[in-house]
Amino acid sequence: MSSKHRGKFITFEGLDGVGKSTHLKKLAAYLRKSGLEVITTREPGGTPIGDKLRAVLLSSNTAGLSPLAELGMMFAARAQHVDELILPALAKGQWVLCDRFTDSSEAYQGGGRQLGSDIVLELNRALCRDLQPDLTILMLSDPAHSIARARRRNIEQSKHSRADENRFEKENRAFYKRVLDAYLAIAEREQRVVKVDAREPIEKVHKKIVRSLEERLGNGLKLVTW
Ligand code: TYD
Repeated sequence: MSSKHRGKFITFEGLDGVGKSTHLKKLAAYLRKSGLEVITTREPGGTPIGDKLRAVLLSSNTAGLSPLAELGMMFAARAQHVDELILPALAKGQWVLCDRFTDSSEAYQGGGRQLGSDIVLELNRALCRDLQPDLTILMLSDPAHSIARARRRNIEQSKHSRADENRFEKENRAFYKRVLDAYLAIAEREQRVVKVDAREPIEKVHKKIVRSLEERLGNGLKLVTW
């Protein structure tokens, strides 16, 4: 298929509990209404193999995982995701909306775990065909507020299922400050990143996301107008 018909790859980024998945679902519904074929997915995970790695990566029972091993596992899941799901979907002309991608590794492992950006970008080149999103929505909120929200949500979820996804939520303020600083540095460097204030009402944030998408990717698309 020619690149003209390649789908678009849109990622959502930000600290835990900032409302990414709500806005990802709203954008998917909006794009489907506009007649596009849309796939939604997430990282770590997105494939059966990736979900197995996710369970290990996020479980608070996973003790003693070294920062480099954590980074390697994030990229093992991502390499599988890119080859099994993302690239084939884009080639078919589908739009792929992904909750977190390589920017998360640059922010959390590069910034939070202090491994730096170079190794992350190198792994993206070596293992993920240097895939870059066409657009990245970086959702920003008050860090303390979003982490508290993520903690509450995970405690609630673990009452209803056996999944325990609390390992990152146990990190401290200094860790999340480094993650946020790394995200802001990525946004300065990469034109594809749009910063969105996630503290605004949901509908207002959604409109801002749609407007950014129309400005940057709307060329030739007949998107539903407000
Ligand atoms: P996610 O399920 O998206 O959590 P939330 O909805 O709370 O944002 O992501 C799980 C955690 O994994 C999150 O704390 C960030 C972390 N993570 C990394 O550290 N590196 C990565 O490359 C990815 C994809 C996620």
